[in-house]
Amino acid sequence: MTLLKIFDEAANLISESEDLKFIQDSLAPSGVSIERWNPLLVESSSDNELLEFYESDIEKIKAAYGFKAVDLMSVDPELAQREDFPSIRNKFLKEHTHADDEVRYFISGSGLFTIHHLDRVYSISCSAGDFIRVPANTWHWFDMGPCPEFKCLRFFSDESGWVPYYRE
Ligand SMILES: [Fe+2]
Repeated sequence: MTLLKIFDEAANLISESEDLKFIQDSLAPSGVSIERWNPLLVESSSDNELLEFYESDIEKIKAAYGFKAVDLMSVDPELAQREDFPSIRNKFLKEHTHADDEVRYFISGSGLFTIHHLDRVYSISCSAGDFIRVPANTWHWFDMGPCPEFKCLRFFSDESGWVPYYRE
């Protein structure tokens, strides 16, 4: 279930909702868009099987939005056992922008996107079925959590992939 929490810059909770229309309307001023597609059961599929399974949808999305590249980000809780996990988690957790839109489709699991727009902080818990687009040059961060588990498709408008510009 998609969950939006809106905070002020002092981290006071202003509102929260699981209602998709409310979430879309609340995010509209920031330019962030979110859609919910029907999630499919994929627990037993390998990453290659998933990419094959989604191939025609991926091609349709690439054509519709002009994306040039796509990859599958697949994270399981074993990642948290690695010595370098804190630095991996922190790479996405530090506030940053991109020159490209950040576009994700969650196939399974969940992750927390946070958008900083004007004097508001929008925390969006995305889960299976969520298609989210964070426009280029939007301040944001992503938390995979202390016990990460998700698979998502990442769409890119150029071949350089995920390139962050961190806030000084
Ligand atoms: Fe990002």
